[in-house]
Amino acid sequence: MIRHFPQGFLWGAATAAYQIEGAAREDGRGPSIWDAYAHRPDTTLGGATGDVACDHYHHLVEDLALMKELGLRSYRFSISWPRVLPTGRGRPNPKGLAFYDRLVDGLLEAGIVPNTTLHHWDTPQALHERGGWARRECVDWFADYARLMFERLGDRVAFWSTHNEPWVFAFVGYAQGNFAPGLSDTTVAYQVSHHLLLSHARAVQAFRQSGRRGQIGIVLSFSHNQPASVSEPDRRACTRVDENGTGLFLRPLLEGRYPEGLIEWIGPHAPKVRAGDLAEIRQPIDFLGVNYYFTQSVSFHPHGGHLKAAISQVADAGWGRTEMGWGVHPDGLRVLLLDLKKSCGDLPTYITENGCAVRDVPDARGFVKDAERTRFLAAHIGAAHQALEAGVNLKGYYVWSLLDNFEWAHGFAPRFGLVRVDYAAQARIPKQSARWYREVIARNGIED
Ligand code: FCB
Repeated sequence: MIRHFPQGFLWGAATAAYQIEGAAREDGRGPSIWDAYAHRPDTTLGGATGDVACDHYHHLVEDLALMKELGLRSYRFSISWPRVLPTGRGRPNPKGLAFYDRLVDGLLEAGIVPNTTLHHWDTPQALHERGGWARRECVDWFADYARLMFERLGDRVAFWSTHNEPWVFAFVGYAQGNFAPGLSDTTVAYQVSHHLLLSHARAVQAFRQSGRRGQIGIVLSFSHNQPASVSEPDRRACTRVDENGTGLFLRPLLEGRYPEGLIEWIGPHAPKVRAGDLAEIRQPIDFLGVNYYFTQSVSFHPHGGHLKAAISQVADAGWGRTEMGWGVHPDGLRVLLLDLKKSCGDLPTYITENGCAVRDVPDARGFVKDAERTRFLAAHIGAAHQALEAGVNLKGYYVWSLLDNFEWAHGFAPRFGLVRVDYAAQARIPKQSARWYREVIARNGIED
């Protein structure tokens, strides 16, 4: 039996600028916080950086051909802010803008819908040195950058996302210190979150003022969170983790308020909010982007950080762990989407990232028979289909990722791509999962 998806369902694949582009010091690009961070000792596995990555900047034509070959209906990519504005503000870099013109035009020629993210973590280093996201002015810097891109590409881009996974950016980058900019200050992380939300709202308003025809939204990281037991302390810890990871963003965006219980719990860490901020953050958005990788099991733990919570991933029997060490629980995606329907109603929803790193073993020609990845994707697409049947307004699904790429602090070790990248030769070899995905797209459904 084939489970069909609605007509026009957007099947895609996703990437992010710093993870694939390379050409870090070419054609006028300025440094981002990820360049600075990855070049610091002991920050990434094996000292990996995005200096070259997949060298997508120079392989654009070839990569567009790959996407066409796969039959992608849409491609989600991000713009490198310091490539178009080398110091984050002021005079734009014509060569940087021209690169994104070529990308968008190439997609349209191939019949692929461009889905553009403005900020996938690579804030210009020059802005960071002026206080960056910890400073309220960053909100306006971002809005100016957004305006520039709407002017330049808004006649051709169908979907815009302001930020990718603001929770990860703020908390892994500013509280845990494991991602750029590598700081460890929980209070700053909450302030950064608030500024990200405000900058999102300013960009949405700028977009509406621009009169462009496309749609605008935001991409959030979602785990489905489950209490480890029915005990009161575990259930409360789970609520805190959920409110901190999701509610901290979704409540202001949809309801113009922070989750009261969480704000009370975090006490002095709470962000400074000015009168009018929350009303401004609640701008109508056209869609919500959902990134889903795993489900979390949460228990109370007296030493579990400021949330006093211990988190582990739910790992279904028969799946093993992915190369990231993540457990696999496809049904969590169905439950998450149904939960979101309760809070977001019929807001159009896209799964903007889902995928896995598995142990890819290439044969002599570099071909990878990644049956595990196919199985992972099929199970998650199946879960998404069940959510659709239960009435979720799901409009598209993007595999993370088109290409193997620079996986942040994990460097190049985990491979998430549908397409293998032989980094030494900069060769692209579609994996077995790419062939499978092409068929899924062609028949607009998966086999049960
Ligand atoms: C997400 C990021 C993406 C990629 C995947 C594996 O959190 O948005 O860039 O690293 O995880």
